[in-house]
Amino acid sequence: MSTYRETWARSVTEPETFWLDAARAVEWDAAPARALEQTDGAWTWFPEGALNMSVNALDRHVDAGRGETIALRYDSAMTGTKKAYTYSELRDRVAEFAGALRGLGVGIGDRVLLYLPMTPEAVIAMLACARIGAVHSVVFGGFAATELAVRIEDARPTVLVTASGGLEPGRAVEYLPMVARALEIAPGIVEHVVVRHRAVVPGTAAELADAAPAVSVHDWDQLVAAAEPAGPVAVPSGHPLYILYTSGTTGSPKGIVRDTGGYAVALAWAMRNIYDVGAGDTMFTASDVGWVVGHSFIVYGPLLAGATTILYEGKPVGTPDAGAFWRIVAEYGVKTMFTAPTALRAIRRVDPDLDELSAHDLSGLQSLFLAGERLDPETWHWADEGLGVPVVDHWWQTETGWPICAIPRGLERLEPKAGSTAVPMPGYDVRILDGKGRELTEPGDEGSIALRLPLPPGTLTGIWGSPTRFRQSYLDAFPGFYATGDAGHLDDDGYLFVMGRTDDVINVAGHRLSTGSLEEVLTLHHAVAECAVIGVHDELKGQRAAGFVTLKAHERIDPAQLERELVALVREHIGPVAAFRDVTVLDRLPKTRSGKILRKTMRQIVDGEPYKIPATIEDPTVLDALVDAVRGADRIPQATR
Ligand code: COA
Ligand code: AMP
Repeated sequence: MSTYRETWARSVTEPETFWLDAARAVEWDAAPARALEQTDGAWTWFPEGALNMSVNALDRHVDAGRGETIALRYDSAMTGTKKAYTYSELRDRVAEFAGALRGLGVGIGDRVLLYLPMTPEAVIAMLACARIGAVHSVVFGGFAATELAVRIEDARPTVLVTASGGLEPGRAVEYLPMVARALEIAPGIVEHVVVRHRAVVPGTAAELADAAPAVSVHDWDQLVAAAEPAGPVAVPSGHPLYILYTSGTTGSPKGIVRDTGGYAVALAWAMRNIYDVGAGDTMFTASDVGWVVGHSFIVYGPLLAGATTILYEGKPVGTPDAGAFWRIVAEYGVKTMFTAPTALRAIRRVDPDLDELSAHDLSGLQSLFLAGERLDPETWHWADEGLGVPVVDHWWQTETGWPICAIPRGLERLEPKAGSTAVPMPGYDVRILDGKGRELTEPGDEGSIALRLPLPPGTLTGIWGSPTRFRQSYLDAFPGFYATGDAGHLDDDGYLFVMGRTDDVINVAGHRLSTGSLEEVLTLHHAVAECAVIGVHDELKGQRAAGFVTLKAHERIDPAQLERELVALVREHIGPVAAFRDVTVLDRLPKTRSGKILRKTMRQIVDGEPYKIPATIEDPTVLDALVDAVRGADRIPQATR
């Protein structure tokens, strides 16, 4: 067996043969003769290949005689429901819903927006789109109507698939009023809405039909009952499988476009070589299908591998206790688990000695993968020692679709290092660059993390509808490289340490948010003159958004009332997922003489870190006011000049 180093070296020196070999793990309608085509700075993976993703995820396993293997286990801690789908059953449900979509006129390349809770219908709807060559765009349930509308306006779906709602501890999240509102904000685009009624959340297709008379509304069950199952349609390798919106530096989210063939090949490689999961194994990814982690490692990856995947509707703690994840691992014989560091910190807070473990047999668990945000070494040690299985911190982004750096557990069980996201995966040529784009080759030198082009299969092929924004966001900063937006360094052994973002993106409980979009919302308030939102340290969620505002002249408003109103405004415009709670009113914001807000210095002050007063500051006394404002906190920052 080749080692990690040989494998990685071959992927960058001989990408053609490396990826054509990897492509054999996928079933093609037209096998690709070439791996890579490059023209004018753009690239396409497997240009002549044609395939269908739902065939690869479902039919091929049924055809191989594995139709009775469990493909999907749904476990809802919120309702106490457990349900299993074999590969045959899931294929049939997907074919039926694909037929239903086709009956609504959905064809190849048409967009279908999915706003669904963590129920099997989310998986079925995604695969149904893939079956008929439609492009799905899943919107996370924690986003509000305005965010839904922005995505409708950008992706222009003809069909929206939703449910009566989701469940959060102690409350039902009703989706239909939000859908009705989004259709009002973005009228004339969506023609049909399909509603899956859940008895546990109020709201029916008929009620939405009254609230949104301009669209035709269908009940999921009735629509499916009348539909003819649809067969799979082969699409070119480069055909978009999905658009997934993620936060950028501005208020408008970026629609990351994923291809079909490159993604299938990359995920098949990752399942076997990174996660060490194959047919007969069970993988539990505790995320949400609304995030890239859910797309790649709840839905597509495990099913491509012929494994069993778990769709868990619940939280790591409180549903009912901090043993919820361990119960799932034991009950379903999970081999590989994946979650976000925040989930582990939440468990640790409630059950620091892992007492809950004693009630569950975790002997089948072989590794725990973590990603989505920085994993602090303390949590890493706690989990590694407490669980007795390797805990692998690995790093990737919505844009890349699969890990950039990881420990390839199926290939070579390299030792993890605390604080590091391990080593580059095939096709990812990771470099550290300084501000001028010069490479920093000394181990330990910190700079922007960039990836040499072309990116490997499975990574983004563009931003939906905006080649210019794609170039500006990722390719222009360092010609010949993709700019990840993260900063960090490599050590002597080639392990990467990701230290934080170089832009205004923050990560709250593993959820990626743009401070720019939060600022846009705060300025909607009549009393706010200027504002700055920064990501500050949070013991549980890694980061949280803190807002600083100045008031318009002559505005008199009680700070507590202003905070309540701003928190409500963010909830209304972005959604509860922003978890926005902190507002501080200042007389002025600290700025440079050219008017740039000193966000980094503000963050250092709030986090109680030593900070340097920038030479370009307009008025240093403004910082004193900020220090005074945060002085109630336990850490007093130190200034140097
Ligand atoms: N639909 C509607 N609302 C949602 C939601 C969803 N799918 N997911 C979260 N929310 C709401 C929460 O109910 C909460 O609302 P509240 O302000 O009324 O309490 C708010 O959004 C913030 O949620 P969150 O930041 O997740 O905090 P929490 O206190 O509800 O839960 C954890 C804390 C640690 C349990 C949770 O953050 C978690 O499981 N994190 C793991 C993150 C993860 O899986 N990331 C995916 C990338 S790998
Ligand atoms: P998302 O696109 O939501 O997956 O967020 C991607 C961003 O999350 C990355 O660019 C990083 O900033 C951060 N991130 C993801 N995984 C890690 C990790 N293992 N360590 C540090 N940061 C991470």
